[in-house]
Amino acid sequence: MAAESDQNRGLSRRGLLSGIALGAGGLAVGGVTGYAAASEPSIDEASATALGRETVDCFGTHQAGIATPRQAHVTFMGLDLRREVNREALVRMMQLLTDDIVRLTQGRPALADPQPELADVPARLTVTAGFGEGLLTAAGLETKSPYWLTAGLPGFKVDELQPRWSDGDLMLQVAAEDPVTVSHAVRVLLTDARPFAKVRWAQSGFHRPANTAPTSTTGRNLMGQVDGTINPQPGTEDFDQVVWIPADGEPTWLQGGSSVVIRRIEMDLQVWGGMDEMAKEEAIGRRLSDGAPLTGGDEFTAPDFEAVDANGFEVIPATSHMRLATRRTPQTASSAAPTTTTTGWMRTENRRPACCSRRTWPTRTRSSCPSSSGLPTPTC
Ligand code: HEM
Repeated sequence: MAAESDQNRGLSRRGLLSGIALGAGGLAVGGVTGYAAASEPSIDEASATALGRETVDCFGTHQAGIATPRQAHVTFMGLDLRREVNREALVRMMQLLTDDIVRLTQGRPALADPQPELADVPARLTVTAGFGEGLLTAAGLETKSPYWLTAGLPGFKVDELQPRWSDGDLMLQVAAEDPVTVSHAVRVLLTDARPFAKVRWAQSGFHRPANTAPTSTTGRNLMGQVDGTINPQPGTEDFDQVVWIPADGEPTWLQGGSSVVIRRIEMDLQVWGGMDEMAKEEAIGRRLSDGAPLTGGDEFTAPDFEAVDANGFEVIPATSHMRLATRRTPQTASSAAPTTTTTGWMRTENRRPACCSRRTWPTRTRSSCPSSSGLPTPTC
């Protein structure tokens, strides 16, 4: 399934990450929006309803919701199949869910929709399904499982993986520009899935809606950072190579399909808010104002990992998220950065910790560095 809208907004590689674990922030934002709307309407009604009417085709070479420009709201769910579910039951479940998806994404109520009046705002709704190992086994197709699904993903050293937030036999990603649309679709899908499966975990997230921010610039996350610069853009060769399983890929049933990893990451906004601007920029390796690398240029300028300042310190610190996350190339191979990916704060011996800005290092005392439970305490 899938057809992509031609709007100029990109899929977030970490769209899976950028809006998650932010429940409290979401409530705060909702309150502020309600007040602003009541006192001074700022959104043109015609364009708001036009967005509400927009649909994304769910038929095509690929599933919708992967190369589709990112919608503002999403709920991910991992479902466990009930023990008695066999191949025939699975077929029935997928037929029911497919029918729901076809109807809801086109702004029509599902069969026996508990709230049909909520279906008429599709708001670019997409529903994307992913199969886990358990589903393939229930279908008698365990030998068709791709090696990476059977092997599982190794955890990072900093991970605190918990079974209640991990795994699942069927993943559903439900995304739309309107949270009510998402919530209604989730309810319909779960109602039909309930005889066959139960929810193991669910995670909602959000991003700025398309009609409140310019679509020409990369969006910001709740830490204020321009986030998504390096994401492969749908329609490019890079995207096709990174995202789709190729026409000669294995297993053959997955050709044109993809894989998904969902990471649930705590964003400690309290600690982040207490850091000065330079420390925040060095934690990531980019300027807060426009997302440009600390070595200059604009958001899309390549970083210069060799550049050092007047004191001989790397301009993009070894502890910066950008340097740690960057793919190893001949250009970055000489850097002392560890090969693990983390979000900053990782300490490398004899190097300035991310929380200490060039201005204060090495005179800043250890106690003046913000620390957070679970993160190694840096020494300054
Ligand atoms: C709270 C968690 C995170 C935040 C706030 C965050 C934020 C950012 C920001 C602002 C950038 C620079 C702009 C961009 O290219 O998008 C970036 C880049 C990147 N991040 Fe993260 N990130 C987080 C977690 C992760 C995780 C867990 C991974 C990998 C598993 C990751 C992988 C990357 C990669 C590969 C880049 C591109 C680096 C480059 O080539 O410049 N990030 N991240």
